[in-house]
Amino acid sequence: MPQVEIQDLRVAYGKAKILEGVSMEVEQRELVSVIGPNGAGKTTLLRAISRVAEPQGSITFEGQRIDHLSPVQVVKRGIIHCPERRRLFPDLSVEDNLKMGAYLRTKDKDGVARDLERMFNLFPILRDRRNQDARTLSGGEQQMLAIARSLMSQPKFLMLDEPSMGLALLVKKFLAETIKGIREDGVTTLLVEQDADLAFSVADRVYVLEHGKVALQGVPEDLMKNPYVKEIYLGIA
Ligand SMILES: Nc1ncnc2c1ncn2[C@@H]1O[C@H](COP(=O)(O)OP(=O)(O)O)[C@@H](O)[C@H]1O
Ligand SMILES: [Mg+2]
Repeated sequence: MPQVEIQDLRVAYGKAKILEGVSMEVEQRELVSVIGPNGAGKTTLLRAISRVAEPQGSITFEGQRIDHLSPVQVVKRGIIHCPERRRLFPDLSVEDNLKMGAYLRTKDKDGVARDLERMFNLFPILRDRRNQDARTLSGGEQQMLAIARSLMSQPKFLMLDEPSMGLALLVKKFLAETIKGIREDGVTTLLVEQDADLAFSVADRVYVLEHGKVALQGVPEDLMKNPYVKEIYLGIA
């Protein structure tokens, strides 16, 4: 049984149909990437799963329907959405941002302290900056903080929305290694990316979302040979 199963998902904002029957699945411990142009509905897909957007169709997590739950109930199941453009608490320190990620773990002080240490080992720069306000971090550092904050909630299923946005090439490479590491730690991950090279380099499988529909799907090795994908997404003529 897939950990996440989405069937015929539809989302509309007023009369505008954004998702028009998306079906996908993510297996336990799998890293699935979703690529697609601006406006394809990638963020809307993640918002529907975290129940910030109202979907039709079905979303099943570990065998149970979650499409009628509240956003908080979804988080309590272990589904964590690391949103586009980071959305940190700019006037809180790095450390306090990380602690906010663990706000549901009120009875697990020791575990939270352990995980804080783990995050500082994973991202040493965050340890150096732990008392600094989040707004003073560079773009790359803010992205690391956003991911680390998501991990502080001990997700079973992590959704990352365009983590590479605005990052320099070298930082993107570090990000790719980090994302692979998260997956190796056993966290099922759904990665939304406009950077197709990054998306392909880390994924077990890839979905191509265009105009609110799944246009193509497959393993990176196969999709990367597809002439359309090569031309449109990989920039190889
Ligand atoms: N809250 C909203 N109200 C109305 N339209 C929206 C809203 N959010 C997104 N859209 C529209 O839905 C489409 C898909 O947006 P989005 O899911 O953000 O795409 P992507 O993340 O793939 O760039 C866009 O045309 C966008 O303008
Ligand atoms: Mg988006």
